[in-house]
Amino acid sequence: MTDTARLAEAVARLRAGDVVAFPTETVYGLGADARNPAAVARVFALKGRPTDHPLIVHIASAALLPRWAAPVPPAARALAAAFWPGPLTLILPRAAGVPDAVTGGQPTVGVRCPAHPLAHALLEACLAVGIDGLAAPSANRFGHVSPTTADHVRGEFGPQVLVLDGGPADVGIESTIVDLSRDAPRVLRPGMLDTARLAAVIGGEFAPAGADAPRVSGSLAAHYAPATPLELLPGDALIARIQALSATGIPFAALVYGPVPEPPPAGLQVLRLPAEPAGYARALYARLREADALGVARILVEAPPADLPWLAIRDRLRRAAQGSGRS
Ligand code: TXA
Ligand code: MG
Repeated sequence: MTDTARLAEAVARLRAGDVVAFPTETVYGLGADARNPAAVARVFALKGRPTDHPLIVHIASAALLPRWAAPVPPAARALAAAFWPGPLTLILPRAAGVPDAVTGGQPTVGVRCPAHPLAHALLEACLAVGIDGLAAPSANRFGHVSPTTADHVRGEFGPQVLVLDGGPADVGIESTIVDLSRDAPRVLRPGMLDTARLAAVIGGEFAPAGADAPRVSGSLAAHYAPATPLELLPGDALIARIQALSATGIPFAALVYGPVPEPPPAGLQVLRLPAEPAGYARALYARLREADALGVARILVEAPPADLPWLAIRDRLRRAAQGSGRS
């Protein structure tokens, strides 16, 4: 099938109430017509996700925002103008007529305009046939690591789901989520966008997320997790742990960006990641999946630096460690 034919097939399926997986610059999404509650229900069923967890509505341009959110606060217009299309999701008061299936029954809606050219082409083609938003979570089963390639998605759902292949995701971890629906702006989920740049655009600081924050499944402790038990260790503790595990004779893997003993001690398989945050984020989920597929007893991960550019990466790794080893 040509790319054009695949896109046409994707639109036809979405019109018929089916789901389609598509690339975004962050991770692959599992999309459905956001105005069709039965189609949205299929997304939840495929993912195995609790139905009170809201989905992000993906739109072709910021001009469509008022169809989904009302009122659209000035800060939302400013952030959309500065960062869309891009890896930023805005939580806003929902407009009339946004299905409960999308919002999990909450008074707010999450909206994002993705930058990936194929996502954009799909959203434009959908708009041309009257579909003005695709509700899409990451295209993985609930609790699994998000997919950053078309093959990852096929591994999650098999041949039943049409996957548009846009190559490996460029950002590699999920969008930054900013909540503008309440008194003060809050970052609900950090991403690779610099929060200082976001704060500068809205002319202020972010409030802490707080215990009363709306439900975000990405904020559950156990999320983004591989099946193999995973330990997150700073560099010196990592070396000691490598020696200790090697002495037990069990097979294990280490995801590192710094030096490890050469040659690797018995039992250890080393998977390397770039030592700068953009490259690390881009490769992280693929490496986690590779490590999980090795059949080792344990995955050790070298903890990234504590400074701001690594914040979102540390967030995902912490959750991966907490949720790992359960299946
Ligand atoms: O990068 C991304 O955001 C990817 C790509 C596909 O766009 N999507 C993604 O979707 O990560 P998902 O569903 O896996 O994570 C979105 C998070 C969820 O934790 C959900 O609870 C939260 O966004 N969310 C969506 N709508 C919300 C709302 N109205 N209020 C609070 N949280 C919301
Ligand atoms: Mg997800």
